[in-house]
Amino acid sequence: MASGLEGVVAARTRISDVEGAAGRLTIAGYPVEGLAPRATFEEALFLLWSDRLPTPIERDELARDLGRARILDSAVRALIDRVLSAGSSPMDALRIAACTLDVGQAALSDREMAVRLVGGVGALAATIGARFEGRPARPADPRASHAWDLLAILRGEAPSAAAARALDTYLVTVCDHGLNASTFAARVVISTGSGLTDAVVAAIGALKGPLHGGAPGPALALVREVETADRAAEVIRGHLARGERLMGFGHRVYRVRDPRAEVLDAACRALHAAGEGDPALASLARVVEAEACRQLAAHRPGRVLKTNVEFYTALLLDSLRVPPAVFTTLFAAARAAGWTAHALEQRAEGRLIRPSSEYIGGRDRAWPAPAPAC
Ligand code: ACO
Repeated sequence: MASGLEGVVAARTRISDVEGAAGRLTIAGYPVEGLAPRATFEEALFLLWSDRLPTPIERDELARDLGRARILDSAVRALIDRVLSAGSSPMDALRIAACTLDVGQAALSDREMAVRLVGGVGALAATIGARFEGRPARPADPRASHAWDLLAILRGEAPSAAAARALDTYLVTVCDHGLNASTFAARVVISTGSGLTDAVVAAIGALKGPLHGGAPGPALALVREVETADRAAEVIRGHLARGERLMGFGHRVYRVRDPRAEVLDAACRALHAAGEGDPALASLARVVEAEACRQLAAHRPGRVLKTNVEFYTALLLDSLRVPPAVFTTLFAAARAAGWTAHALEQRAEGRLIRPSSEYIGGRDRAWPAPAPAC
């Protein structure tokens, strides 16, 4: 049995391909480094769902539908405030609020529901971010692009074109990634004949964990803890000596640097060149990255542990003034594209996912005889 299902092929998909040894990610036929800096989130979403780029008319239509789906009703906004004030984390608030996205929507087709979910999860992620920071969440602008509007809702002000482009690059870079844990969860749920909202809510739960989507906040914390380049070796040594994992390093599939790290690093540099973000923090992060890779190679010589997507996610989102507590909710906003695409693909396949288990317990145990009555 493969521990953690490592190396097991559990689905056939045309949506994306992760080649671990070569460090290649293909999204619906396009290398990530060709697609992510150019495509808008709307174009990538259409591509994932339809396996081709949209015509201009189709792109505008999807942008309009997505914009309408970003409008949250007042009861959902009130629910977000209630769960955040009760101490729920942003990801828990997202899971709770995402459950409401299909209320009163029973008549929608799967594709219509997918639009509602992707638009809704994006708006929820941004609204939760603003409210978590104690700011009013700006209402959605259905005529804006998805990336621009998410930043506007979250930050409470109109972002620059460079910032919106950087967020588009992030959203497209992480929109899908093979059969990762949250996507697998979504496919398992939909394979039972359940609904798209059920699949997306399950996926949000899987994404939350630090071994999957919960790593970028702690990755940024590591860079901030280092503070100055001369402390990098000592701080990293301390974490490894305490048996801790360095967040933003290592991957189940990649045996080289995650190709998405390169794309997000370039997006960071472009944003800094446009006068936004914190280039000094980025320079420090590059020192931390090099030192972490050096120490990890010595720490686990048998295992290649290189930078993964989360390290540069942290830097890029921080440069976009996204608070670390909501990094993972924005990841969910992007990955909702992949989750819904996989759910639609799995629905079309129509086969229940039901693997077997290897039983390692006892057998033929006898029920204890009743104690004799005194
Ligand atoms: N820091 C230190 N040691 C590590 C790290 C790390 N980041 N990653 C793996 N290792 C060590 C493990 O402790 C283990 O050592 P052991 O054999 O002595 O016990 C060995 O390397 C193998 O680790 P596994 O857990 O078997 O590797 P797996 O393929 O299951 O893990 C994972 C991949 C979960 C991403 C892991 O590398 C990790 O925990 N990284 C840190 C968290 C992180 O960055 N998560 C984001 C992943 S990207 C994404 O999901 C979007």
